[in-house]
Amino acid sequence: MPEVLVIGAAGKTGRAVTRALASRGVRVRAAVRPGSTSPVYAGPLARAVPLDLETGAGLAEAMAGVDGVHHLAPNVHPGEVAMARRVADAAVAQGVSRFVFHSVLHPEDASMPHHLRKAEAEKVVRERIASATILRPAAYLQNLEGGVRAGLLEVPYSLDSRFTNVDLDDVAEVAAHAFIQDGYEGATLDLAGPETMTMREMAAVATEALGHPVEARELPLDAWLAGAGSGLPEQARNDLAAMFRSYDRGGLVGDCTTLRSLLGRAPRTWRELLAS
Ligand SMILES: NC(=O)c1ccc[n+]([C@@H]2O[C@H](COP(=O)([O-])OP(=O)(O)OC[C@H]3O[C@@H](n4cnc5c(N)ncnc54)[C@H](OP(=O)(O)O)[C@@H]3O)[C@@H](O)[C@H]2O)c1
Repeated sequence: MPEVLVIGAAGKTGRAVTRALASRGVRVRAAVRPGSTSPVYAGPLARAVPLDLETGAGLAEAMAGVDGVHHLAPNVHPGEVAMARRVADAAVAQGVSRFVFHSVLHPEDASMPHHLRKAEAEKVVRERIASATILRPAAYLQNLEGGVRAGLLEVPYSLDSRFTNVDLDDVAEVAAHAFIQDGYEGATLDLAGPETMTMREMAAVATEALGHPVEARELPLDAWLAGAGSGLPEQARNDLAAMFRSYDRGGLVGDCTTLRSLLGRAPRTWRELLAS
């Protein structure tokens, strides 16, 4: 079985990808920011290694001898393109045979600066590693899970915008397959969920699935900027505000055909996730 370096392994995506790989018998080097206190997936097949994506410190050591790299940048990070360049260059230097880059659905969408950075990062990766697999996931269903389990689905955009949020574990399963199955080399894969739903509809389904009321509430963007957004670095705040305005205008919708075909089964629905 191969050994895979998972970058951002203490984050939401990295933990899911590490779990998906380890549960298939793949050894994982779980790269974590030096000094991080976030929990990493713990298991006999996973071991943590320090890596600072902003400076590249630890990169060569973390990558030495691995067969594959799953690269992602921290959410809305201004250095995403430089990180992609640094990690892809290191993978080429080390002769890593499989490279997966975790992008986003519709990276070309110019209404969201962090999507455009993803488009540029994809280009940087593709120029260096033609065989790289690029995953373009929709927003995760799990982003909303904690709130609805507590009875509130609150978002700073229209409750009537439409989304095809995807189960993060389905995305992680595809990421794991990209390292252990053939056919993923050079592919760019949209990974959208199986249902197109508004936030209002997701709250209604959650109410039924959880057996307690789940309120859907729109938070004015100004209230988000003055509240949760106020503690963020300026660029992250601006990027997220641009994302919320884009979601307000048109949601984020993709086609589920690719995900269904790669999984060889129906992707998990919102109701199934909440019932699990
Ligand atoms: N969330 C979604 O719905 C979604 C959908 C599609 C695509 N994506 C993409 O998936 C990627 C990951 O998102 P996420 O939600 O999983 O992010 P996340 O939970 O914030 O995880 C990012 C991880 O990166 C680590 N990190 C931060 N700065 C670092 C540094 N300088 N060096 C090394 N590691 C560093 C963080 O460490 P600490 O834990 O120590 O802070 C964290 O564990 C993003 O690029 C995002 O755009 C997300």
